[in-house]
Amino acid sequence: MMLVEKNVPLQAFNTFHIVAKAHTLVRIASESDVHALLKHPEWGVEPKFVLGGGSNIVFTGDVKPVVLKVEIMGRRLVLETAKAFIVEAGAGESWHDFVAWTLAQGYPGLENMALIPGTVGASPVQNIGAYGVELQDRFEALDAVDLQTGQVFTLNAAQCAFGYRDSVFKHGGSTGPASADGHQVVGLKDRALILRVRFSLPKAWKPVLGYADIDKKMAEHHCTRPTAQQMFDWVCEIRRAKLPDPQVIGNAGSFFKNPTVTLEQCADIIARDPKVVHYRLADGSVKLAAGWLIDSCGWRGKSVGHAGVYEKQALILVNRGDGTDSNSATGGEVMTLARAIQTSVYERFGIMLEAEPVVV
Ligand code: EPU
Repeated sequence: MMLVEKNVPLQAFNTFHIVAKAHTLVRIASESDVHALLKHPEWGVEPKFVLGGGSNIVFTGDVKPVVLKVEIMGRRLVLETAKAFIVEAGAGESWHDFVAWTLAQGYPGLENMALIPGTVGASPVQNIGAYGVELQDRFEALDAVDLQTGQVFTLNAAQCAFGYRDSVFKHGGSTGPASADGHQVVGLKDRALILRVRFSLPKAWKPVLGYADIDKKMAEHHCTRPTAQQMFDWVCEIRRAKLPDPQVIGNAGSFFKNPTVTLEQCADIIARDPKVVHYRLADGSVKLAAGWLIDSCGWRGKSVGHAGVYEKQALILVNRGDGTDSNSATGGEVMTLARAIQTSVYERFGIMLEAEPVVV
């Protein structure tokens, strides 16, 4: 049974805990709820906004389109092949709980992405990633509903057009990324509601290492070959020490993407500041640590109204309020702070940082 609510506060539904309301909110617990909604004489024709775990969103005002709150549950092993376990989860499942469940079942592979806030359904939208593993590395397929036609369709990894914190679901109309064969993919922003996601977890598991924070844990524990459970525990410890818990301090994870520059641009920046944190990529370009760029412009700990730059990680913007109407960062304050950071990083390093969350 589809549940429709009016004037719903969204603080609890976004990890930034920004105060905003949905004019109309519909809870979607199953595929048939989507079909019922699309056939509805009133809500069926209204513009719609799909809300997952709200972990990558900045609300800058009340949301006028009908908010579809995805609460589709369920986790299961779909198929076991000689090479992999194919597991599936409903879009409304908590991402972290799903990762923990796969490990408990004996299907390792997602442990480096432990403790990323949000839902399974949102995970492909921005191709979440951490400590050397991205969602696309473990992705098998997803089922979604086209909100314009009501048609259910399945996409494989290539069709999702995954990039760094990017996918076909972040692009609208025909402005989507070009597919591998050069055709313009029609963007699915505001058009698709993800129902279920399937993952392929190879039986030939080995830990994905090579990150400084993980190397440190290995040295501390005198361990050269960690188990999946150890990797999971360490990732949780590292994240808890460095990243604010959204239950306590509102935030949306990294607020900016780590920018990629050419070797020449990087040499230029090194000339200005030899300490710049950078990593060579396989294609010859260089990735810079946005957190370092922001930090070196002096932003760590600064605020605009109730919006602030996290003390322990300059890449994370936080809500210093308590989430009540009169004592909370507004989306406007967050965006003012974000733009001020972009301007100062641009003036010092000539690099325009790109925001990661979706601004609504
Ligand atoms: N740094 C500073 N000052 C800061 C912050 C960072 O000097 O205030 C330096 C660090 O010392 C380090 C470097 O910048 O040398 C990189 O920092 P870190 O290892 O914390 O990782 P990151 O590049 O800031 C990325 C992802 C995270 C992911 C971690 C681990 C992006 C935008 N962020 O952060 O993802 O958890 O790597 O893999 O790619 C997210 O996307 O929301 C997210 C949290």
